[in-house]
Amino acid sequence: MNRHSLNIDYIQSPKDHLDRTDALLVVKATEAAQNAYAPYSQFKVGAAVLLDNGHILTGSNQENASFPAGICAERSVIAYTHANYPTSKISAVAITASPCGICRQVLLESEKRAGSPIRVLLINENEVHIFKSVKDLIPFGFDSF
Ligand code: THU
Repeated sequence: MNRHSLNIDYIQSPKDHLDRTDALLVVKATEAAQNAYAPYSQFKVGAAVLLDNGHILTGSNQENASFPAGICAERSVIAYTHANYPTSKISAVAITASPCGICRQVLLESEKRAGSPIRVLLINENEVHIFKSVKDLIPFGFDSF
């Protein structure tokens, strides 16, 4: 029997201390939240993805009267990204919330496709929490053994 423990290393940074790329990604995710369609929860979420070619794509949550048919901001932009840029790798993602479990699993798959860690920026009012890999947000995700 072996005992293990996990350590999650992340950076907590004021928004105005970010480097240029991170700051841009945060602005894009925040702007994208304005396009959310959230008449049921009134909770608007924006997400911005940075590709290895420097392009930034955005998404937002899109709800539906049939509640389970709604989609989170993260999955809206991730599906769009892989559908339109199938050979590009996602290098970073910024989100104006902390992602739900399903989105974490989906992000994990994007990281697997990229073959290198995806930097994750979780945005709140004044600061950003920065993780170096999706794995830090979903240890023991499906298929991780
Ligand atoms: N939502 C997201 O877009 N991303 C998350 O990570 C968590 C939740 C959305 C789903 C729903 O439209 C609203 O926020 C309230 O749950």
